[in-house]
Amino acid sequence: EKGGYDHFMLKEIHEQPRALKDTLSGRIAPDGSRVVLNEINIPQEQLQQINKVVITACGTAFHAGLVGKYVIETLARIPVEADIASELRYRNPLIDKNTLVIVISQSGETADTLAALREARRKGARVIAVTNVVDSSVARDADDVLYTWAGPEIAVASTKAYITQLLSMYLLGLYLAQSRGTLEDKEITQIITDLRKLPDKVASILENGTNIKEFVQKHCNCEHAFFIGRGLDYAVAMEGSLKLKEISYIHAEAYAAGELKHGTLALIVKDVPVVALVTQQALYDKTVSNIKEVKAREATVLAVASRGLEEVAKVADEVLYIPRTHQMLTTILAVVPMQLLAYYMAVSRKCDVDQPRNLAKSVTVE
Ligand code: F6R
Repeated sequence: EKGGYDHFMLKEIHEQPRALKDTLSGRIAPDGSRVVLNEINIPQEQLQQINKVVITACGTAFHAGLVGKYVIETLARIPVEADIASELRYRNPLIDKNTLVIVISQSGETADTLAALREARRKGARVIAVTNVVDSSVARDADDVLYTWAGPEIAVASTKAYITQLLSMYLLGLYLAQSRGTLEDKEITQIITDLRKLPDKVASILENGTNIKEFVQKHCNCEHAFFIGRGLDYAVAMEGSLKLKEISYIHAEAYAAGELKHGTLALIVKDVPVVALVTQQALYDKTVSNIKEVKAREATVLAVASRGLEEVAKVADEVLYIPRTHQMLTTILAVVPMQLLAYYMAVSRKCDVDQPRNLAKSVTVE
């Protein structure tokens, strides 16, 4: 049932190109000019009145929400808040009938996420659920459902569901941009063209995935690891850090690279592994200067960088490259090395990859 793989997690990582294709399927106009989300039935008039988007979720799904915040604000020019469901539900959030709430949940059964959804509906918001399980509680209680078609996810650590959640954020960002007229047609077409190429690019990363193993061998006995990045890379850093923690039990932290010198730099000492995400051309110089800061403290830096930013090899100890894509879409590619890193670390530490201690696949209690 693991299809020849040692663990469900590795199988599911390899299913990502297929999961992305299935989630894209039928959601793009045949001429590639628009996103078509037939399952979302928000009346035009209501769409025009939306003045705020609130995204809520837990764990990995929340990390997809952080990307959603960035993407929707950039594409549709609406203010977006992303908040953890267990926080949002207890703070009497500013949500009303002009708020669009997006709830993200692989299982569709997470107690806090479901409670946040119900609270949002009580306050009159329109709620879109992004979920992987047909007819789950979240799907049933939302106004509209955008299914991720990742297929059943067995490993506790979410991989293919997360990548399809990311894709859903891009689809929703484009959908809202279209309805609000915030993007030119040619920009939409360009992003869609690049979106469609992502499954093959993920497949190409997976084919070259083995060069991570060296870094893993060197660092699998470490106690602490750090993930740094800026902008979208920071959101992916958070996901990389969570993956590593939950399955390899290495203490990991993600930091917005510019925050390092406000405290965390005190923890950066000789040989501490630092994973630096460098996919954003516009933030390249800034992140490189942060890499130099940690190198000056003799940390070991593994950079995950976009093709085209090869100069980073001069400052990092090792570089894993991801293929070029639209600068906003890099998250879908950059997360793959994060997943493989966590996986191989866990395997070399002999951890129970698919069933990490203390964790359950679906958290239906608070
Ligand atoms: C981490 C992980 C969890 C879930 C979280 C929410 O790999 O899987 O952090 O993302 O428990 O679960 P869902 O998406 O089912 O609401």
